[in-house]
This record gives sequence, C-alpha cells and structure tokens, in this order.
Amino acid sequence: MSKDYEKYFIKPSIRDARKRKSQATPVIDFNKHFNIKGFGKGKTYKIETYGCQANEADTEKIKGILEVLEFTESDTLENADIILLNTCAVRENAENRVFGELGRLKQYKKNNPDLILGVCGCMPQEEKVVERILKSFHYVDLVFGTHNIYKLPEYLETVVLSKERVIEVFSEEGSIVENLPRIRENTRKAWVNIMYGCDEFCTYCIVPYTRGKERSRNKDDIINEVNDLIDQGYKEITLLGQNVNSYGRDFLDVNYKFSDLLIDLHKLPIARIRFTTSHPKDFDLETVKILSQGGNLMPYIHLPVQSGSNEVLKKMNRKYTKESYKKLVDNIYKFIPNVSLTTDIIVGFPGETEEQFEETLDLVKYCKFEGAYTFVYSKRAGTPAENYPDYTTFEEKKRRLYKLNDLINIGYLRGSKRFEGKIVKVLVDGLSKKNNEILAGYTENNKLVNFKGDESLIGGIVEVKITSAKTWSLTGEQIE
Ligand code: SAH
Ligand code: SF4
Ligand code: F3S
Repeated sequence: MSKDYEKYFIKPSIRDARKRKSQATPVIDFNKHFNIKGFGKGKTYKIETYGCQANEADTEKIKGILEVLEFTESDTLENADIILLNTCAVRENAENRVFGELGRLKQYKKNNPDLILGVCGCMPQEEKVVERILKSFHYVDLVFGTHNIYKLPEYLETVVLSKERVIEVFSEEGSIVENLPRIRENTRKAWVNIMYGCDEFCTYCIVPYTRGKERSRNKDDIINEVNDLIDQGYKEITLLGQNVNSYGRDFLDVNYKFSDLLIDLHKLPIARIRFTTSHPKDFDLETVKILSQGGNLMPYIHLPVQSGSNEVLKKMNRKYTKESYKKLVDNIYKFIPNVSLTTDIIVGFPGETEEQFEETLDLVKYCKFEGAYTFVYSKRAGTPAENYPDYTTFEEKKRRLYKLNDLINIGYLRGSKRFEGKIVKVLVDGLSKKNNEILAGYTENNKLVNFKGDESLIGGIVEVKITSAKTWSLTGEQIE
C-alpha cells in the first residue's frame, strides 16, 4: 500500500457522526483551498444523482468543481472518463438501486479500464456501505462523503495521476464551504442552501448521521447569492435545509431567525421564493404571518407530519403532537387561505397499530393535504428505531400504504379541481414531455399546468386560465 493510498483511507463511523459539540462552525473559502487546475482538459464526466434536493444542490457544486478542472459533461455514460454516483441513504430501496447500478457499471470499467468510478453523497457516510464497497466492488476508485466535496480536486489528482484508490469519509459535525463553483441544472429556478445538517434525530432517520450538525449559513452570504441569481435572470429560488424553521438557531453572536430571513428576501426583486423542508415543531406563528403577505412568498408549504398518532410521534422523536400540528395547520389556513399544503408520511413504523394508522388517516382528512410523499418504514442501521420491536408484516404495511395513497390522491384531485375556471400564474419550464406543441410549468401553488403556447414563453411567467383539472395536472389557455 502506497503512502498516498494511506493518506486517503479514512472510513466513516456512525458513532462519531452522532456526536454534537457546541463549537462555532468553521467556514471554508473554496478559493483559498483550491490550487489545482486544468488536468481535466479533454476529459468528460457524468454524475447520477439520487435522493433529495440537498443532493441535487451538491451535484451542481461537484459539476462546478469538475468544470473548473476543465472536465466537460458527457452526453452518455459510455463515453464518460469519470462517473460519479451521488447517493441517498434514507431508505433501503434507495441504496439497493445504487448497488444495482454499481453492478451494471462493472462492464463499463471492463470496456474502459481508465474510467474513474466514484461513489459520493450520503451512502458513504455509513460504515456498512464502505465495508461492502471494499469487499464487493473492487473496481470503485473513489469514495467520499458529504463533508469533503471541496477536496475533490485533490482526490482526483491522486486517482488520475497517481492511479491510487481514494477512500475518505469524515464523520464530523461539518463545516460550511463558501464560494464553491456551481453549474446549475436550471437557468430560471435555483436551489439556495440556507443551512446544512440536522440536529433533530428523528429515531427512524439516517440524515443527521450522513449530513452532520445543523449549521446555518451567514445571512449575507445567502442574500448575496440570491442577488447574484437575480442578476443572472433567475425567477424562482427554493431555500434548502432539513429543517428550515430552525435556521439561525446555531448562531452564537446574532439573533436572526428564519422569519427574519424571509422578511429580508421578500424585499428582493425575485419573482418566487419557496422553501423546504419545514418542521412542524419549529414553524412559528411569526413565519405564518410573514408568508401571509404573499407577493414573492409562494402559497405552498410542505409540512411533513410523518404520523397522526401521538404515541407514534413520540417514538419517532418528532417533538410535537397531533393537536399542536392541527393548530399550526389551522393557523396556516387562517392566515394564508389560498395555501396548498403537502406532507410526508411514514406507515408501518415499528409497533404502529391499526388504530394508530387510522389516526393518520383522520389527520390527513382534517388537514386537507393537496399531496404527500408516503413511505413504508425502512430500517436504518445505527438509528434508534433499528432496535424497536416490529411485528407487523410487510404485506400489512403495504396494505396501509395503498389505503393511505387512495386518500392522498383524493386530496391531489381536490387541490387541482379548485383551480378550474381560475386564472393562475405559470412559470414556464419548457415543452411538455408528452406533446411538443404544449408548454408546461408550475403555478404559485406548485401545480403542474399544460397549455398551448409559443416556445418564446419559456422562462417567463404567463397568466393561464384553467379549463380542466386532473389529479396530477391542470390544463389551461393563455390569457392574451
Ligand atoms: N428533513 C426533511 C426530510 C427528510 S427525508 C424532514 O424532516 O421532513 C424525507 C422523508 O423521508 C421524511 O420526511 C420521511 O417521511 C422519510 N423517511 C426518512 N427516514 C425514513 C425511513 N427510515 N423509512 C421510511 N421513510 C423515511
Ligand atoms: Fe430526518 Fe427528522 Fe432531520 Fe428530517 S428532521 S432530516 S426526518 S432527523
Ligand atoms: Fe437522501 Fe441524504 Fe437527502 S440520505 S434524502 S440524499 S440528505
């Protein structure tokens, strides 16, 4: 084993990833760190992204780094000199998809021994995953985690120039890296990270271990980024955090909260502001009232509830009750009557009884959700719920999921139907996937709309009268 290899052989530890100390978050300036250039000239890359918006935003940063190194994006996997899988660890099937893909990519490596195959994102933050890669996927050249994306130039230099395998994953609270270059996926809608990590430790969830401590970005860095996006012609931003409502909780020297950030961003000339994800425990009335001002603050809130049973919520460590959740929802509808609410729900959490599941159905009816992501509980190694007794069969959990989905779909349709005959504003994304004479875009309430219109409208905000509504989409006509 060479020296370089040893230098870059750091494995993760879920136990270390659990630790939280109360020290200030280090801020790293990528420009000061970065001194390798140009060795990607003439070479190409391809990244496959799994998981949530946090990963999508990270992929944009990884692309930014690769392009500064003068790599260009390949159209196909076959022709790429580097393939990176930016992975998600939140449920077992997300991980299985990645292992399946790694199996498939073995052939590519055979065809092109110079191909560099890398795995990054949340999965490498788990020791079991790194052990499995070491044991069964010898042809993976590069493994890094969520905390050390900014070190990619260094790692690639070692892999490309020294032909050494690099495995380096930090299980730490994490830092904030500013000034990372970025190739954004979309020219009109942008992700803006306002914080990283999560300190909630919901008992089923792996994210606090894969993403580290909750750490908020300096408000000026956020506002500067948004101003830059405005200069570049962006129309919509989505503020990202695992629990955006706790933004600023970690500031030691200033008192500046999510509601303050919304007040400041509301003043900027950006057409649309969204945010995700909200935590019901920290969503304060102040924030609700600010959102009620409307304007560029969009009437759409994704508010994961997870369960409608107080016993289950307690076991999940969600730190709210169904009563407090309902009260929050009541206030949201009171102050923002036009709002569209969506949620996340887990069925089959260990020990969930039929009655407790029924309570979730009741809560769904009460809250009038217009959509939801629903999941069967998936056991995650290293989380507290891993050891909770669970006697419910998978078949039974599936039955609950389908029953819940039937109810959720009624909400989707109701949420679409209420716009029939109404005039809505659509940010036009592009041509419809099914018909290239039709444009597609999203309303302020985040509903997909298809309408006939000229391609020149792409990127603009257009007024459309809704003529018919289906469960998943609205159809309309442009108002002249
Ligand atoms: N921070 C966000 C999103 C986290 S992951 C939040 O708190 O809402 C997105 C969703 O995945 C969660 O809301 C939850 O519904 C689901 N999820 C997380 N861990 C899971 C697990 N072990 N099994 C099934 N679903 C899970
Ligand atoms: Fe996971 Fe809970 Fe954090 Fe969301 S708030 S990322 S569900 S631990
Ligand atoms: Fe998945 Fe990591 Fe997001 S585990 S859901 S990609 S934070």
